Amino acid sequence: MQLERILHSQGFGSRKLCRILVHADRVTVNGEPCDDPFTDFSTANLQFTVDGEPWPYCEKTYLMLNKPAGYECSLKPQHHPGVHALLPSPLRERGVQTIGRLDEDTTGLLLFSDDGVFIHRMGSPKWKVPKVYEITAKHAINAEQTAALVAGVRLADDPIPVAALACTQVSTHVMRLTLGEGKYHQVKRMVAAVGNRVEALNRIAIGDLVLPKDLPVGKWRWLTDADLEKLRK
Ligand code: URA
Repeated sequence: MQLERILHSQGFGSRKLCRILVHADRVTVNGEPCDDPFTDFSTANLQFTVDGEPWPYCEKTYLMLNKPAGYECSLKPQHHPGVHALLPSPLRERGVQTIGRLDEDTTGLLLFSDDGVFIHRMGSPKWKVPKVYEITAKHAINAEQTAALVAGVRLADDPIPVAALACTQVSTHVMRLTLGEGKYHQVKRMVAAVGNRVEALNRIAIGDLVLPKDLPVGKWRWLTDADLEKLRK
C-alpha cells in the first residue's frame, strides 16, 4: 500500500495532509526515513513513526484505557470531558468507539475499537462477556447482601429480577461483583436494592482480561493478541 494511503488509514488526516507530512520528512517506515508518499510498503508488521512517535500499522484497532473518574463515555459529552480526549488524535480520527459505557464517576477497564463486528459481539447478550466490578460500599457489607445479589434483585422499572454471576466480599466495605449484562447503572441500582450504596466503582476485569496493575489511571495501551484471546474465550 502507498505510504500516503497507509498514513490516511491510520488516522493521520486527509491524503493531502499525509502527503505533506511525508514530504516534510516527518515520517519513517520500518526504521528508514521516507519522503516519497507514493512508495509502496507491505503492511504486514509495518512500523512507522510520525514526528518520532512510533506506531504499528493496524488494520483495526483494539485498546484499553484505565478510565479515571470525571470523564464521560459519550462521543458528545455534556458535563465532563469525554474519554476520547485521553486518546491520541490519530485514534480519535480513526473513529474508535468505547465498547459499552462506564458512568462518569466509575473508574477502571474500558475497551475501545474501530472494528464494528467486534464491538457488536462484545455487546451482544449472546456472548455475555462477564464484567467484574470492585465496589466500595457506604455501609458495611453483610452476607445477606452478597447472597441477595447472587439470588437476584428487582430493579425499580424492571419486573424481571437481575442476578450477579458472582459476588464476594473482600473487606468490610469492599466487594467484587460479576455481571453478565450491562443495564443502565446496573451495579449502583443492584447495590441500592439490597439496602447499601455504591461509594466508588472500579471495573477490574472483562472476561478473563484483567486491568493491568501497571497501567496508570488515565493511560491507554493496545490490546495484544493474548488480551483479545482472553475476551473471545
Ligand atoms: N454499573 C453501574 O452502575 N455503573 C457503571 O459505570 C457500570 C456498571
